[in-house]
Amino acid sequence: MFDPYEIRKDFPILNRRIRGRQIIYFDNAATTHKPIQVIETIKNFYMNHNANIHRGLHTLSQEASELYEKAHEVLAKFINAYSWEEVIFTNNTTDGLNIVAYAWGLKHLREGDEIVLTVMDHHSSMLPWRIVASMKKAVIKYVDITDDGYLKYDHMEELVTEKTRVVAFPIMSNVVGTINDVKRIVKIAHSVDAIVVADGAQAVPHMPVDVRDLGIDFLAFSGHKMLGPTGTGVLWGRRDLLEDMAPFKVGGDTIKDVTLDDVIWHDLPWRFEAGTPNIAGGIGLAEATKYLMKLGMENVRAHEIELTKYTLERLSEINDVVVYGPKNPLDRGGVISFNIKDLHHHLVGKTLDLFGIAVRTGMHCAHPLHYRLGIKGTVRASYYIYNTKEEIDQFIEALKTIIGLKPVLMASPEKFEDIICTGG
Ligand SMILES: Cc1ncc(COP(=O)(O)O)c(C=O)c1O
Repeated sequence: MFDPYEIRKDFPILNRRIRGRQIIYFDNAATTHKPIQVIETIKNFYMNHNANIHRGLHTLSQEASELYEKAHEVLAKFINAYSWEEVIFTNNTTDGLNIVAYAWGLKHLREGDEIVLTVMDHHSSMLPWRIVASMKKAVIKYVDITDDGYLKYDHMEELVTEKTRVVAFPIMSNVVGTINDVKRIVKIAHSVDAIVVADGAQAVPHMPVDVRDLGIDFLAFSGHKMLGPTGTGVLWGRRDLLEDMAPFKVGGDTIKDVTLDDVIWHDLPWRFEAGTPNIAGGIGLAEATKYLMKLGMENVRAHEIELTKYTLERLSEINDVVVYGPKNPLDRGGVISFNIKDLHHHLVGKTLDLFGIAVRTGMHCAHPLHYRLGIKGTVRASYYIYNTKEEIDQFIEALKTIIGLKPVLMASPEKFEDIICTGG
């Protein structure tokens, strides 16, 4: 187990003060902070190795190409991919999930085919399939959840039929925090030869994710949610599936040869990395990944279980708080969404900011999940390796103060209904 106080020393931004108070950053499900090691790596790249990759025979270009390729190797090791060539660098999870829906879906889906999604999907997983389904006249079905945020696996079994070609779902929900039973889903999907597309945005940064062990077919995740730079992410896919796909975005670097009437696509992963990629970002992401590997993903998970358990216990002291998702901290990640009775979630979030506490409020890009739960939004606290129980204590005290101020806050002239979530 690691010491979060030691880790904090690597994160300069955690010294920021907001309205005179040291910041408490509980918005990690949206994006995490970056350790000095990642910041220095990016700076070093631009100061010493900057050049475009794969296009020059000069020294800088060769150095940049080598660093960028090696970065793929680090990420492959992190998720236990068979080869670095199965690892495609993307801009984020959204990008990766769109690549699968368009590149695989447009080629393989036929009229009447079925795609099974879930009510707890992030829009990034749900919407690409909906668009591709409408283009191919395929049918979408949604697996329901229980009131406490578990997927209904018996419902999934009913929905998956011989017509099902795709099952897509989040490994962990960014709202209710539920960690889904991936192997069970794989078994259901593979029984009818459907492909399994896992949204790993909230899972890969927080727990061991081993693509071979899980038996999934595609996995997408975001680098910026795991200490890496913004504009980075990964799509991993089974090699035979990737090799069978034409790229969804085309242009420079995606090809081996082009004539006026033909094109030969490039080898993996370049076929899917169109144009000049985020070279410094990819190299920075590899550094972030090394940082996490050094800590050990089992330890990251254990730390977050402890923080989650502690938060659930402390929140249960407060009558007016409604928490969503599983009660058992072992069944969920470090994402805790809640509401305070009679107070709008945005009002709670804005008031917490006065205490220097950063949380996210809204529907977290999972509107159907909120409609299913019968709510218009939540306040979400989400943790990472540098968060501490001491910060949670301050958060609980702030919530108690806010509840004490309810009559004043309820008279607030601010109306929040029109503030829409833009990130999750
Ligand atoms: C479960 C889940 N999927 C997908 C995404 C999209 O990630 P990105 O915005 O990095 O593409 C998020 C982001 O919050 C998420 O939580």
